[in-house]
Amino acid sequence: MVDPVAVGFGAGLVLVFVALHFARGTGWEPTADISEEVLEERASTVPETDFPEPGNRAIGGGGGAVGAVPAGEEGELEEGGAAEESSSPADIPEDEVEYFEVEFVKEGATIELANNETVLEQGEEEGWDLPYACREGQCVSCAGQITDGGNAEDYVVHDNQQMLDDTELDEGYTLTCVAYPRADFTIETGEAP
Ligand code: FES
Repeated sequence: MVDPVAVGFGAGLVLVFVALHFARGTGWEPTADISEEVLEERASTVPETDFPEPGNRAIGGGGGAVGAVPAGEEGELEEGGAAEESSSPADIPEDEVEYFEVEFVKEGATIELANNETVLEQGEEEGWDLPYACREGQCVSCAGQITDGGNAEDYVVHDNQQMLDDTELDEGYTLTCVAYPRADFTIETGEAP
């Protein structure tokens, strides 16, 4: 004979186990969310970086450093070359300055001119109203003629005159605003070719 009480007890036990089984199974799901939160928390403690991963950074950084060295060397070379090219009679130090006797025919005077100042500037320092415009060797307003014979550049150094051709220089013409004396000479101011 089957005891109905025993059957009912057994069925009850089965239901309890089934209920416990599902209770455990559903109980695991929240732990997955917690572990994600932990991972996010840990990730948030790592500082953000602006640069690529170390491997890429080594490649990029190395390339930059290699490029920087020759650039520096070139810069030094350019500076050295520029220093040599930029030498002007105006840069002659005071203790190396030489003086020359220059006769200004129209002004009726002979004066000593230094070789580190232009003919125009030194004439103006005498109080003479000499002609000029650009003062950079780019017009002929300040032109004068050296009348000693021969090329004007036998008597003056032009610092970047851009107007007189070889024939005009041979005739003694000079641009006084960029002309530095290098010998004694006689000049007629206000004479353009
Ligand atoms: S003032 Fe222009 S070249 Fe001398």
